[in-house]
Amino acid sequence: MCGIVGYVGKQKASAILLEGLKRLEYRGYDSAGLAVEHDHKFEIAKKVGRVEILAKLAAQQRLSGTTGISHTRWATHGGVTDANAHPHVSSDGRFAIVHNGVIENYVGMRKFLIGKGYTFASETDTEALVNLIAYHYQKESARPDTSRFLESVRKTLHHVEGTYGIAVLCTDQPGEIVAARKGSPLILGVGDGEYILASDVAALISRTQNVVYLKDGEIVHITPKNFSITTLDLTDVSPVIDRVAWTVEDADLGRFAHFMEKEIFEQPAALENAMRGRFSEDQSSANFGGLNLTPADFRQIDRFQFCACGTAWHACLVAEHLIERFARVPVEVDYSSEFRYRNAPLYSNTLFFVISQSGETIDTLAALREARRKGYKVMAICNVVGSTIAREADGGIYQHAGPEIGVASTKAFTSQILIAAMFALYVARMRDMSFSDGVQYVQALKQAPDLVRKALEQAPRIKEIAKRYARHRDFLFLGRLSLFPLALEGALKLKEISYIHAEGYPAAEMKHGPIALISETCPTVFFAPKGEIFNKVVSSVQQIKARKGKTIVIATEGCEFPPGLADEIITIPDCHEAVLPIVAAVPVQLLSYYIAAELGRDVDKPRNLAKSVTVE
Ligand code: M6R
Repeated sequence: MCGIVGYVGKQKASAILLEGLKRLEYRGYDSAGLAVEHDHKFEIAKKVGRVEILAKLAAQQRLSGTTGISHTRWATHGGVTDANAHPHVSSDGRFAIVHNGVIENYVGMRKFLIGKGYTFASETDTEALVNLIAYHYQKESARPDTSRFLESVRKTLHHVEGTYGIAVLCTDQPGEIVAARKGSPLILGVGDGEYILASDVAALISRTQNVVYLKDGEIVHITPKNFSITTLDLTDVSPVIDRVAWTVEDADLGRFAHFMEKEIFEQPAALENAMRGRFSEDQSSANFGGLNLTPADFRQIDRFQFCACGTAWHACLVAEHLIERFARVPVEVDYSSEFRYRNAPLYSNTLFFVISQSGETIDTLAALREARRKGYKVMAICNVVGSTIAREADGGIYQHAGPEIGVASTKAFTSQILIAAMFALYVARMRDMSFSDGVQYVQALKQAPDLVRKALEQAPRIKEIAKRYARHRDFLFLGRLSLFPLALEGALKLKEISYIHAEGYPAAEMKHGPIALISETCPTVFFAPKGEIFNKVVSSVQQIKARKGKTIVIATEGCEFPPGLADEIITIPDCHEAVLPIVAAVPVQLLSYYIAAELGRDVDKPRNLAKSVTVE
C-alpha cells in the first residue's frame, strides 16, 4: 500500500524522487522519505506527513546524489513516526532500504540480529530486513564487489516469510540499486541514460513509457550502464520491455479541484474506451480478445463465480444481476477475503472472474490463486495493464479507463459495470438471446457515454443539495435489483471520503430494521427508476416520509413521482436496464464528492485509506 520510487541516472535524484512520490501519494500518506547516495554516504530526509513536507525538508538539506530511493508509507508495523518512516538504514550504515509489504517473521529475525550486535532505531519489520542484508554482506566478504551487494540481498530474501517490494542502496556500490518483489508490485522504467524504479507506472511516466514489469521472485540489479534480472534461485531472466499507454497528462489534475472530481467527469471517455473494438461485426454481440476461451469452451460453463473487494465487489453484484437476468446463467459473488478462507464447495463447470481496478489487491490476488490452485480458470477484469492479477489470470478484459488516482473508485466502477454488461450480452447471445434483442442491447450500451454526460449535467443541482445535507451524520441508501449494489456503493462512497456514517440496503429490507434509524436527522437516498418496481419504491418513500425522514430521490426522467413526496429529486436519463446502474452511479458519486468537499475533507486521500490494498 506504500509507494516506492528509485532513480539511477545523471540527474539530481531527489527532484525526480519527489516528483514520483507526489504522483504515488495516493498509495499511502502517513509519512514520506528518501535516501540518496553521495560520496559513499547516504543523505536521508524523512518525515511524518505528506510529500510536500518532505520536499521542504529535502530542499533544506540540498541533497546532491544522482542515485536514490524513496517511499510514501501506509503504516503497518509501528506507529506513524519519523523513526518508522522509510528509508531505513542498517546499523552499520552501509545499506538503505524502502519496503512495501509485510515481513511476517521479522520478530525472529530481529532477535537473531540483536544477538549478533545489530541495533534498531524503529519498530518496523523493514529494519530487520536491512540489517539482515548487512549481516549477509559481512558473510559474503570473500565475493568480488560486483556481486556481493546483489548476493547479500538474495540470501536475505531466502529467509523472508511475507510480502515485499524493496529497493536497496549500498554505500560500497555507488550508482546501484538492487530491488526485488514478492506480492508487491515493482516496475522498472528504462529511460534515456537513466532507470526509474516504481511501484506504480504513475510515478515514472513523466520520464519514460518503456517499462519492465518485474514478476514475483525476481531481483533486478540496476547500475548506471545497464540492468539485469535474475530469480531468487539464480536463473537469468530475459527482460521484456513493454510500452505504457498512459501519458503524463492522464495522471494530472488539469482544471479539476480533485482527482475524484476529474475521474467522475472522465466517465464518458472511460466508457467509450471500454467498448472500443469490442462489438461483433454484426453489432449483435460482444467480442473479447483476451479471454482465451472458445465459444465451445463457453458452452461447457454453467456457472460463474466472481470475487473482488470494495467497490469492485459492488461491480460484481451488478454483474451477477445482469448475467443472471440476460444470460440466465447462475452467478455467485464472494468477497475475495472470504472466498480465500471459507473453502466453499464449488461446481465443476464454473468460470471464475476477479475484478480489480489496480490488479494488486492482495485479497483478490489470493482468491485468484486459490481458485487456480483448485484447477479453475480465472478471468480478470482489471484497469492496470501489467498488474499482478492481470498477469496471473488465465485471461481477462482490460478496462482501459486510464489511471484512477483518487482513492475513491469512480470511473473504474462504471467501466467494470459496462464490461460486465457486455459480458452478459456475450454469454446471452451464445444461449437464448435473439439477434434483434442483441442488436438492441448493443445500441443501448453505445448510448452509455452520452447518457452519463447527461447525468453529469445535474452536477450544479447536486452540489446545492450536498451543501444542504452535508452536516447530517447518518445516511441510508436504498435501491432494488440492479440498483441495490448502487445503494451499497453510494453508502461506501459517502463513508470513505466524508466520514459520515451511511448504510446501503435493498429498499424493501428497510422495514426489517433500518427504518428504526429514520428521523429528521437521517436522510435517505432512494433509487426510483421507471419500471415494474417503481410503485413499490414510492410506497417505501411514503413510509419514510410518515416518520419525518428526509428523502433524496434519484428518479429516471419521465417518472410520475407524487408531487411533494420527496424532499429532493435528482433526475437521470431514462435508459436500458443494462445501462441503468452506470447512469445511476453518477448522482451518488457527485453527492458524496460534493458533501466531502463541502466538509473540507481531503477527498483524494481520505484518512486511514490507501488506493490499493496490498496487505491482508
Ligand atoms: O484495486 P481494486 O479494485 O482491487 O480495489 C478494491 C477496493 O480496495 C476499492 O474498490 C476500494 O473499496 C475503493 N476505495 C472504493 O472507492
